[in-house]
Amino acid sequence: MVLPQKRNLTVPSLGSSESLHTARKATYRSIKLWCLSICLACVWTFATWRWDSLSAFNYRPVEDSSCPQTNTLIPRQNLFFWTLLDDELRTDEFKNRAVRWLGGAVQVETETFDNMDPVGEDSRWENRAFFHQYLQNAFPRVHSTLELTKVNTYGLLYVWKGYDVALKPYILAAHQDVVPVNPDTVDEWAYPPYSGHYDGKFSRFCERVWGRGSSDDKSGLIGVLAAVEFLLEQGFKPARTVVLSFGFDEEAGGKYGAAELAKYLTERYGRHSFAFMVDEGAGFMDQYGSVFATPGIAEKGSVDVDIEVATAGGHSSVPPRHTSIGILAALIAHLENNPFKSHLERDTPMYEFVECLGAHAANLPVPLRKAIKRAKRSDKALKKIEESIFQNPVFKSLAGTTQAVDMIRGGVKSNALPEQAFALVNHRIATTSSGKATKIHDRDLLAGLANKFNLTYMAFGEQVSDEDVPSKGRLTLSSSTVLEPAPVTPTKGENAAPYQLLSGTIKAAYNAHRSLTDDDDGVIVAPGMMTGNTDTKFYWDLTEHIFRYNHLNTGKTGNPLGSAHTVNESITADAFLEMIQFFGTLILNSDETKAF
Ligand SMILES: *[C@@H]1O[C@H](CO)[C@@H](O)[C@H](O)[C@H]1NC(C)=O
Ligand SMILES: *[C@@H]1O[C@H](CO)[C@@H](O)[C@H](O)[C@H]1NC(C)=O
Repeated sequence: MVLPQKRNLTVPSLGSSESLHTARKATYRSIKLWCLSICLACVWTFATWRWDSLSAFNYRPVEDSSCPQTNTLIPRQNLFFWTLLDDELRTDEFKNRAVRWLGGAVQVETETFDNMDPVGEDSRWENRAFFHQYLQNAFPRVHSTLELTKVNTYGLLYVWKGYDVALKPYILAAHQDVVPVNPDTVDEWAYPPYSGHYDGKFSRFCERVWGRGSSDDKSGLIGVLAAVEFLLEQGFKPARTVVLSFGFDEEAGGKYGAAELAKYLTERYGRHSFAFMVDEGAGFMDQYGSVFATPGIAEKGSVDVDIEVATAGGHSSVPPRHTSIGILAALIAHLENNPFKSHLERDTPMYEFVECLGAHAANLPVPLRKAIKRAKRSDKALKKIEESIFQNPVFKSLAGTTQAVDMIRGGVKSNALPEQAFALVNHRIATTSSGKATKIHDRDLLAGLANKFNLTYMAFGEQVSDEDVPSKGRLTLSSSTVLEPAPVTPTKGENAAPYQLLSGTIKAAYNAHRSLTDDDDGVIVAPGMMTGNTDTKFYWDLTEHIFRYNHLNTGKTGNPLGSAHTVNESITADAFLEMIQFFGTLILNSDETKAF
């Protein structure tokens, strides 16, 4: 900025006697003091006024209505940066930057396989170092400003220190790794799976970045870094500390990545030390004629149950009526004929989601809408909803505990009776259930057959069959470590400020991206759930407010996973830009509240 040149001003003379001069000096001094105190008062008033009435987000608990919605939350103190970001996202320059950032990240293969050995012993982890190098080159400001700690060699932990230490920090998480590409299907890909190819010849709505990880979850990781890099370029300094935590083996359970990162964060910051956390998860899509964003507020548990049958071996020319394999087959058939009962229950995330459909879905069939209204009190209406929505297998699976017989083994030779046969059942535990209840269910379900086949029955370390019964063999149930269902993130009442902040941010990003001014055309935010587990399972002690959400536009496909984990994984440039808008808005909004 160029200042206009000073002009010579003519000041009327007031004389120059010493006394007058001193008197005037004293007057000036008191005027100066007076001004100073007025100014201080002004600054103080302004500062407190800003926080109390101008801060974008003041939490007010909502009454327990069906699917309460928050207002769109546009940053106020940070409006300047938000507008810069919004303008920038509309430019071709930024779009090209964004797709290059993501395409480059896809090109670094960071596959995770099951049962990898620890870091340092298994060379297949080492490609993560190339990924780090890539990030360092691609995001220079992030790397010169944020503090970076590498946890267990490949876990990335960035700390962007805020200037207001009174504000609790928050975590934005993502994972660096991808599921392997099936070599047999490489030819079916539109572009080679690690090309990171960008087909920039149409419009940003159909242009895509292709490749493994373009959606799950390098879009989340690069989306966060892109937002931070841009805000740094504009000179933004956060009030609230932001922690970026990027695991590197989420696709195999996160044992070496997220588990170690969470441990490190607990040691450094303490338990319950974070305001909230956002990790990969659901986005938004059209449901019954309205657009719903469904941040995951719960996660099912899981446990693998091993079923082992052991009977006497021998030559197969004189076989018993049932071999170990035959008995195992009967046990499996019995399991599959008696699945867990799946019910829609009140006060569950699924029920809250259904309430949101009832309150906001434009084209919901009228009988269903009516049933949802009555279901608060009527069990008959609840049953009716259940029948309707459970036709969708995803809903049915999410509501109840599931079982899947995923592995089987037994027998060694064609003329030898099998001494052992083994099967593995994978359970996903309903949010209303537990590992213990799941195991008891299995134990009791198989007791009748154990008795019928005269087997000594041990279940999870305890003898179930009577000691003195003559035994024809053994049936043993054992289990992996149980992952209990996650604590449910509060969405209503006194403790729902982070959920509201997230909701308002989702609406702001959605509206801004479409230049919508009327909230009526906007997005409904409803509590959601994921079918699988994420790295968040290690963070339960760090915050009660965990959201599995990445603001990915999944359109009208109805498949929330899109092309993740399979052939032709890709993301549109437009959807990726909107994710960046969401992360940027979240960072700016998080600074503007003292509600947590
Ligand atoms: C992948 O995309 C290409 C190009 O659109 C298409 O020809 C191919 O059939 C797709 N593959 C699968 C398995 O869907
Ligand atoms: C189990 O034992 C009972 C009593 O000894 C016998 O009657 C029955 O046939 C046995 N069942 C099998 C499947 O071996």
